[in-house]
Amino acid sequence: KKGSYEHFMQKEIHEQPESLTTTMRGRLIRGGSCNAKGVLLGGLKDHLKTIRRSRRVIFIGCGTSYNAALAARPFLEELSGVPVSMELASDLLDRQGPIYREDTAVFVSQSGETADTLLALEYALKNGALCVGITNTVGSAIARNTHCGVHINAGCEIGVASTKAYTSQIVVMAMLAIAVGDDAISSQSRREAVIDGLFDLPNKVREVLKLDDEMKDLAKLLMDEQSLLVFGRGYNYATALEGALKVKEVALMHSEGILAGEMKHGPLALVDETLPIVVIATHDNCFSKQQSVIQQLHARKGRLIVMCSKGEASLVCPSGSCRVIEVPQVEDCLQPVINIIPLQLLAYHLTVLRGYDVDQPRNLAKSVTTQ
Ligand code: UD1
Ligand code: BG6
Repeated sequence: KKGSYEHFMQKEIHEQPESLTTTMRGRLIRGGSCNAKGVLLGGLKDHLKTIRRSRRVIFIGCGTSYNAALAARPFLEELSGVPVSMELASDLLDRQGPIYREDTAVFVSQSGETADTLLALEYALKNGALCVGITNTVGSAIARNTHCGVHINAGCEIGVASTKAYTSQIVVMAMLAIAVGDDAISSQSRREAVIDGLFDLPNKVREVLKLDDEMKDLAKLLMDEQSLLVFGRGYNYATALEGALKVKEVALMHSEGILAGEMKHGPLALVDETLPIVVIATHDNCFSKQQSVIQQLHARKGRLIVMCSKGEASLVCPSGSCRVIEVPQVEDCLQPVINIIPLQLLAYHLTVLRGYDVDQPRNLAKSVTTQ
């Protein structure tokens, strides 16, 4: 079943051009003489009005699924104008946080069976919210018990560390944002640009996968480190959290995803010549802020690995003293799909080099069905 691959995680990372194609199949409308470009999500079409009118959208999930929702949040806020809040399922349950009839609660789960996410679903149903599922597993508890939803159709994911499900979840939530925002003429050109970006995304993913050898070399350099920080912001705050989660869960290396805007409120104290730091600085509306973060880390002799858009190495590292990972540029809201891939590859190679179990990391389970 692994074909020519040694591990499921490796296979699942490399099959993302195909899994994303399946996720989008039949759901993107190309546009033409009589119809505009758009998105068709069969499971949501009767509920879009309710979502548009809701007072708030709440994304609820655990682990990688939470991070995928965090990556999609800015685009949904932009296109819907509805406030979007984020909840880790366990924390929502611990607090018994307020949920109302006027809310739309979106449950994101690869397996559709995670105990905390399911309990949060029961809680939201009891409170009268519209409950939407985004899951990879047809017939799962979350798919059955939500009012409506979208299957991400990424294909079976076996590696405990989620990879292809993450990128498909982001793409589904970007499509959801387009569908919800479909009634606004003012954002039509933005929606169309993102739809074009979605059509081209599998090609861009194929391109970024060519960094495999480069990421293996980087892994060789980092394999004996104790710790790795990942700085991101905006669309790529989620990339920082998810990249760090991959490194810690499979390579068993301490890693922390940090919101770059919080750098001066603590993390800066950790910076020295030895601690490796990945900074995500691909081109978007936060670019100049990330340039200044890089300068400040550089001034403190930080050991930097900067991820930037192709052709922009000299803009992020004028001194030439940091290591640079150049990735293809796509629409800003889709960039997290591209940017996570080098970090998935890095986590994979670190794990192999450190001699740990790639597909069954110590102490972890693919689906956490008990609290
Ligand atoms: C559906 C069919 C697909 C077919 C397509 C043709 C299924 C599972 N999908 O896909 O095989 O090719 O029509 O038009 O039969 N749902 C939830 N919660 C969730 C996920 C989904 O309630 O977490 C519901 C949806 O609201 C929908 C149904 O499950 O009623 C199927 O969802 P989805 O597979 O995403 O719908 P389509 O893409 O239309
Ligand atoms: C487990 C998995 O912790 O559950 C993670 O090991 C996953 O990979 C998390 O992100 C949430 O799972 P699900 O199925 O609800 O997306």
